[in-house]
Amino acid sequence: MTIRIVLAGATGWAGSAVALAIARSNDLTLVAAVSRTHAQQILGDVLGEPRLNCPVYATAQEALAHPCEVFFEFTKPDVAKSNVLRALQHGAHAVIGTSGLSEADYAEIATAAEQYQLGVLAVGNFALTVVLLQKFSEIAARYIPQWEIIDYAHDDKKDAPSGTARELAYRLSKVRPSHLTVPLEQTQGVVETRGARLTGSQIHSIRLPGYTISVEIIFGMPDQKLTLRHDSGSSAQPYLDGALLAIRKVNTFVGLRRGLDSVLDL
Ligand SMILES: NC(=O)c1ccc[n+]([C@@H]2O[C@H](COP(=O)([O-])OP(=O)(O)OC[C@H]3O[C@@H](n4cnc5c(N)ncnc54)[C@H](OP(=O)(O)O)[C@@H]3O)[C@@H](O)[C@H]2O)c1
Repeated sequence: MTIRIVLAGATGWAGSAVALAIARSNDLTLVAAVSRTHAQQILGDVLGEPRLNCPVYATAQEALAHPCEVFFEFTKPDVAKSNVLRALQHGAHAVIGTSGLSEADYAEIATAAEQYQLGVLAVGNFALTVVLLQKFSEIAARYIPQWEIIDYAHDDKKDAPSGTARELAYRLSKVRPSHLTVPLEQTQGVVETRGARLTGSQIHSIRLPGYTISVEIIFGMPDQKLTLRHDSGSSAQPYLDGALLAIRKVNTFVGLRRGLDSVLDL
């Protein structure tokens, strides 16, 4: 028995790497793909991989006419939530790799996952070094009450903050909110320069040419600092193992889980 997958965003930078990794696996099968530009084509013709002999559709709705166990969302935040809700309606578990969904989006998805008794695994970053950064940060937040997050990305990344930074802030909110010595409303000058407060953390997003994707968290205590930082390279390779693991694990629970370590024994 293989796990049948519908992959939305299968022709993109990240999605095409996942599609090729699925083609190389023995226990996973891609049954349909989503991309507007390549609709009506065979994915293998687009990606140059004959083992990917599944059709490409312009919408998730059309692709989900193919029965599948897992829907993998790797498109853009403006369509991600509706794609995932549609997948749940079709009885598929969902893995969300797309970044930029809001806390309200996740709340809606969590409710639907419970309603349909299916699993949704949202992973802001599939790379192992990010999973470890999140885990180490949670430990640090238990001992150090003040921190700020800096999210670095290339200048044409439209969503801010990054999915990685959002997920980190969300996870730290389960430990405690970061303490501000000077409350934001008492800032003298321009309050926006203090960054955005999101689920209890200050986040600063840098968007400049020359950056790929990095996330940094600085914990500060009197006369001492701890900095944890992840830098990704230019290939999608670091995401692949995590993405395939998410596909294999998403049917093991009901409801929404955030972060790859929620299905790992760390
Ligand atoms: N979780 C992680 O570890 C991780 C890693 C890398 C990237 N990401 C995130 O994953 C998402 C995709 O990134 P990317 O760099 O792969 O983007 P990309 O190269 O622009 O690819 C986007 C893919 O989605 C499709 N798409 C976009 N809008 C669509 C729509 N409205 N309907 C149907 N298909 C649509 C595109 O095909 P068409 O344009 O032909 O429709 C393409 O296949 C982003 O949110 C990014 O931040 C997350």
